[in-house]
Amino acid sequence: MAPALDITMTIQNKKIILLPGDGIGPEIMRVAVRVLKECAAEFGHQFSFDEFPFGGCAIDATGEPLPAETLAACKAADAILLGAIGGPKWDAVPLAKRPETGLLALRKALGLYINLRPIDLHAPLRGLSPLRADRASDVHIDFVRELAGDVYFGEHRLEADPSGERATDAGSYTTGEIERVAQYAFARAETRKGRLASVDKSNVLAMSQLWRRTVTRLAADHPRVKLEHLYVDNAAMQLVLAPAQFDVILTSNMFGDILTDLGAALAGSIGLIPSMSCGPGPSLYEPIHGSAPTLAGKDVANPVGMILSATMMLRESFGLKREAEWIESAVDRLFANGIRTPDTVEPGTTKVGCIEFGERLQAEMTSASKRQHTGA
Ligand code: IPM
Ligand code: MG
Repeated sequence: MAPALDITMTIQNKKIILLPGDGIGPEIMRVAVRVLKECAAEFGHQFSFDEFPFGGCAIDATGEPLPAETLAACKAADAILLGAIGGPKWDAVPLAKRPETGLLALRKALGLYINLRPIDLHAPLRGLSPLRADRASDVHIDFVRELAGDVYFGEHRLEADPSGERATDAGSYTTGEIERVAQYAFARAETRKGRLASVDKSNVLAMSQLWRRTVTRLAADHPRVKLEHLYVDNAAMQLVLAPAQFDVILTSNMFGDILTDLGAALAGSIGLIPSMSCGPGPSLYEPIHGSAPTLAGKDVANPVGMILSATMMLRESFGLKREAEWIESAVDRLFANGIRTPDTVEPGTTKVGCIEFGERLQAEMTSASKRQHTGA
């Protein structure tokens, strides 16, 4: 049966706020929005898209990386899609007004304390992993990164010192901040293989000692989850030596920032990895890569991290699992057919630009729906 016929009871009307941002952000966002429009048409949903300035382009337009109007729109959204922000153009801007500070302010204002970053190795892309084939097989890790605390949100101070200057960044975690993100990670592990690795530096940091004690205490409520603790330095090594041992990894804001880039490299390209940030209100979805200013405007960006962020939104915020799978399976078929953007090209594959990747993906999606319609 055609999807449009058998989901008439679950037709959804959703308000999606788009923050394309800087660099390659607008290019990959255009592709993801086209894919979402195709999805809405196929399944009969109503998605509205409203675009707002955020990051460097917002600094240029308004002097602020997070204009009040952008924040208000995000707060009223059903979900938010973000491309990428930042670039050398704004490097000289004082820290408090940088595009990145706008991103942190947005995370704070929306209360986004959970950051889920799935690192999945797509089988046809296995050859792209820098790891030996035997080590790179079966990598499916869900990183749960705490997103609202740590040195990211403590005081940043610069003062005079006899040697020149002194820079200080203060970090803290409360029991409550650790509990709420850890509860999410335990619940996530329960829906997967039931293994949770908590990563800290409790041999040095007070924050990490509280982290480890709190996570250990919560484990009693989750008997089906096998919890282990790793120091962050060892975790970095284990991720490279034997990544298949991990199921869900829970870690603090700063360690999560670093380890998820490492994880993305294992999957073959940082351009492939999506993310979800959530809290009490609307969730925000963004690829984990940056704005890649040197690639911008050349039609060479990989839109997959953005597209998979959009499918995460369909699944996690709207409960549209079948729609997400329809798009994701088409992405997998493109990979299997050797259709690749420059960052993922290998001998024997076909190099396409960002726009063409999107067009071929749409063709693949509609051909799958035609097959369903004709029962082929
Ligand atoms: C990320 C980014 C951000 C972070 C930057 C842009 C502030 O690296 O989302 O991983 O450090 O959280
Ligand atoms: Mg990062």
